[in-house]
Amino acid sequence: MSHDWIKIIPPAQTAGGRGKLVIEGRPSILLGGQTNNSSGSNLEYIQPVLDGLVSLNSNLAILPLYWDLVEAVEGRFDFTLLEGIVESCRSRGLHLVFLWFGAMKNAISCYAPAWVKTDLKRFPRAEGEAGKPSWTLSMFSPAVLAADARAFAAVMRRIGQIDADRHTVLMVQVENETGVLSIARDRSAAAEAAFAQAVPAELMSHLARRRDRLSAPIRDAWDAAGARMQGTWAEVFAGEADEVFMAWHVARYVEQMARAGKAEYDLPMYANAWLIAGPGYKPGQYPSGGPVTKVYEIWRAAAPSIALLAPDIYQPDFRHHAADYAREDNPLFVPETNATPAAAAKCLYAIGQHGAIGFAPFGIDAMKAPHPLADVYAALREMGPPLAEAAAQGRTAGFLQQADDESWMVELDGFRLRPRTSRKLAECAVPGSALLVSLGGGVFLAMGYNIIFTSEPTDGSLVAAEILESDEGRYASGEFLATRRLNGDESCHGTGVVLHDRLTLCRFRLHAYGRSDSAARKA
Ligand code: DGJ
Repeated sequence: MSHDWIKIIPPAQTAGGRGKLVIEGRPSILLGGQTNNSSGSNLEYIQPVLDGLVSLNSNLAILPLYWDLVEAVEGRFDFTLLEGIVESCRSRGLHLVFLWFGAMKNAISCYAPAWVKTDLKRFPRAEGEAGKPSWTLSMFSPAVLAADARAFAAVMRRIGQIDADRHTVLMVQVENETGVLSIARDRSAAAEAAFAQAVPAELMSHLARRRDRLSAPIRDAWDAAGARMQGTWAEVFAGEADEVFMAWHVARYVEQMARAGKAEYDLPMYANAWLIAGPGYKPGQYPSGGPVTKVYEIWRAAAPSIALLAPDIYQPDFRHHAADYAREDNPLFVPETNATPAAAAKCLYAIGQHGAIGFAPFGIDAMKAPHPLADVYAALREMGPPLAEAAAQGRTAGFLQQADDESWMVELDGFRLRPRTSRKLAECAVPGSALLVSLGGGVFLAMGYNIIFTSEPTDGSLVAAEILESDEGRYASGEFLATRRLNGDESCHGTGVVLHDRLTLCRFRLHAYGRSDSAARKA
C-alpha cells in the first residue's frame, strides 16, 4: 500500500523553496503535541491527555508505541494499546504520529522487551573501550535488527489493517533519538570488524557529489586525511571516523527498519535528533551516530526511505536549529520542543520563516491551560490551507525574539518591513514573535506578540510607505473578520503595526508614495 494521499514535498521541489505537506490534496500544517513517554501505556490515562490536546486546538497527537508492551512475549503481538490510541484520537478528530520506541530510545534500549534485554548472547550490546556492555543494543547485531524489524513490521501491518481507509495515522518516527551514548563508537566484535572494512563506495560517491554541502568538521577531516575516495573509516575520516562510522551504521539500521515497516504499510517515516548542545561537545556526550546535522549527508546517503530528519529543539537558540534542519531536501518538522509559553512564539516563527510542516511541544500532559499556544493553534487552523500554501510558496516570514532589543528586515511585495521587539524578554508573557503573510497588492497579515512593524518602499525613488487601512481581527473558516479599525495612537498614526502581549492579528494595506510634481521640481 502506498501513501499517495499524504505527500511530503521537499523545498527543492516547490516553487517557493519551502517544504510542503499535502494531505488528501490539501496543503496542511501539523499543529501537534507530544505526550510524556509513559502516557500511551494506559488507555484510561491517555483520555484526559488527549482532551487537553483538543483544548489546545491541536490537530495532531504524537504518541509512542512500545516494543516491550507490543511484544512482551517473543512472537506474540499485542495491539490493544495501538488500536485504542488510534480510536481515541480518531474519535476526537486528531491525527496521529506514532513513535516506534524499539531498540533505541534516547540512545538507550530501555524499551526492548525483557526477553531481549536478558539474553546478551543472542542480543549483544554496544561496547566501549573496556569491553563493557552498554545499555544500548548493538546496531551491528543482525539478531537485534531482525527482532526489532519484525515487531515494527507487525505494528505497521496492524496500522494498515485498521487505518488504511481512515488516514488517522499520518507518519511514523522510527526509533527515538538514535545513536550510542557515553561512547563514541560501538567496539563490540561485530562493530570492530565493520570498522576495519573499507568505507562503502556508495557513501564515498554520495559525499563526493554533495561535497559542498558537508558539514565543516566532516569535510575538514576528510580533506586533512588526503580527501581519499577509498580506505578504512579511520583512513578516510581520521579524527571524525568514529561518528561517521556510527552515523552510517545507525542510519542503515533505521533504513532497514523503515523498509520492513513500509513493506507492510507505506506511511512517511522520519528520524528525530538529540542535538549537539554547543561547541566542544564530543560524540558520546550526545548520541554518536544520531541524525545531527554534522552527519546529515551520511544519514541521507544511508537512509533514503526516511522522508525527513527532525530536530528535538530544547536548546535556547531555536532559530539556529530550525534553520539548520530546514534544507533543500528536508522540510522542517519540529516533533519536540519545550512546552513553555514560548512555544507559541516558536510555532509562529517556524511556520513563518521556514514553512514548517509541523510543530509540537513535548510533555503536553503537564501543560497548564490557558496556554498561549492554544490561541496560536486556533488562529492557524482557522486560516487553513491558504496559510500552508503561502508558507510553502515563501510568501511568509517569521520572527522570534531570543534577546532584548532585536530587529529584523524582510522584503515582500515591494515593501521593506522592519519588525522590532517592543519589550524586554523578561517582561513578555510570550517572547516577541510574528508570522507575517504577504496577501498581495500591498496587503499583509501580521500575527504574533510584542513586535512593532514599520515599513518603507523597496523602490528607492519613492519617498515613504504609509498604512492605508489597518484592522485588528481574527480568522474564521479562512476569512479575516475585522474587529477594530486601527488608526491614530493604535497604528502609530498610520506608520506602524503593533502586536501586543496577547496574540494579535492585524491585517494592513501599505501604500508607497513618491514626490509630488512640485516637490520633484524643487528638488
Ligand atoms: C527527548 C526524547 O526524545 C523524549 O522522548 C523525552 O525523553 C524528552 N527528551 C525529555 O525531555
